[in-house]
Amino acid sequence: MKCRICGEKASVNMREHKLALCKEHYLEWVPAQTERSIKKYGLFKHDEKVLVAVSGGKDSLSLWDILKRLGYQVDGLYICLGIDEGIKYSVESQRLAEKFAFEHDLKLQVVDIQKEYGESIPQITRETHRGRIKPCSVCGLVKRHIMNRIARDNGYDVLATGHNLDDEAAVLFGNTLSWSGEYLLRQGPLLPSSLGLARKVKPVCRIYEREMLAYALLRGIEYIYEECPFSIGSTSIYYKELLNRLENNRPGAKLSFYLSFLEARKGGLFSEREKIQAELHSCSRCAQPTSAPGLCSFCRMMERINPISVDENEK
Ligand code: AMP
Ligand code: FES
Ligand code: ZN
Ligand code: ZN
Repeated sequence: MKCRICGEKASVNMREHKLALCKEHYLEWVPAQTERSIKKYGLFKHDEKVLVAVSGGKDSLSLWDILKRLGYQVDGLYICLGIDEGIKYSVESQRLAEKFAFEHDLKLQVVDIQKEYGESIPQITRETHRGRIKPCSVCGLVKRHIMNRIARDNGYDVLATGHNLDDEAAVLFGNTLSWSGEYLLRQGPLLPSSLGLARKVKPVCRIYEREMLAYALLRGIEYIYEECPFSIGSTSIYYKELLNRLENNRPGAKLSFYLSFLEARKGGLFSEREKIQAELHSCSRCAQPTSAPGLCSFCRMMERINPISVDENEK
């Protein structure tokens, strides 16, 4: 297999794009694809301040690397969740995020939820749900809240996450199976800022997970290989496996599933967006949006475990 551009031996073969590239041209192709998405979906401009949420995994570290190479103003945010079951997951991912920042002379902000709120994600889950659920939904709620708070309070124009095509296709698949209209309305590369919420973007949402992996490996980025110990057996991993089987037989199926959804929505398939947004209220404590008047779900949860620390952090 030869590189389509220079004819040298190809390092990456992408059946989904009918394209094979050598290392050098692949490492140019991924940032060029990302730049295309940034322009196409109007995600952000060069004079805007971008905050990348970095988990220490391949996707978000690669995204940080790509945005820096494209010349954007980009700082990082790492949230230490206190997940230390099995391998020391949080400690190790923080080490890798800090190492990347140091080696690339980039600014990384670290929020340690145990220090800020007094408890780790597994502890909060045990206290609020008495161990009846896995920590993932609590974790998602806490991460969204903190990402938004840091972006908003530190004057960032936009918050970027490393969600790749496989992540997005799996979420879309789940939302479609249950026809979750409200989620389908909001899913996409760009969520504009609204009522106390920072603009949220997913610049690598059109790039396959294996393409992101190849980028991280070829760039020599050291990332945390293990998944979060609580994600084992999750529905999203199951959906990813199902979609991979589809993709194996029909290369490009995942991309077309996601892009056709975006097109259909643009064409008016779901047109109730304004109505749903108008129904949001502002949380009386943290000012982030909530569907009912009073406290948002994050502040309600944190009040149950520790009423004082939330107040202090939100001031
Ligand atoms: P996940 O929800 O784990 O699939 O991660 C999706 C995206 O959320 C990642 O690509 C990161 O951009 C961001 N993210 C996940 N975990 C963290 C974390 N601990 N700190 C900062 N950002 C994170
Ligand atoms: Fe949040 Fe696994 S990363 S529970
Ligand atoms: Zn080449
Ligand atoms: Zn709140």
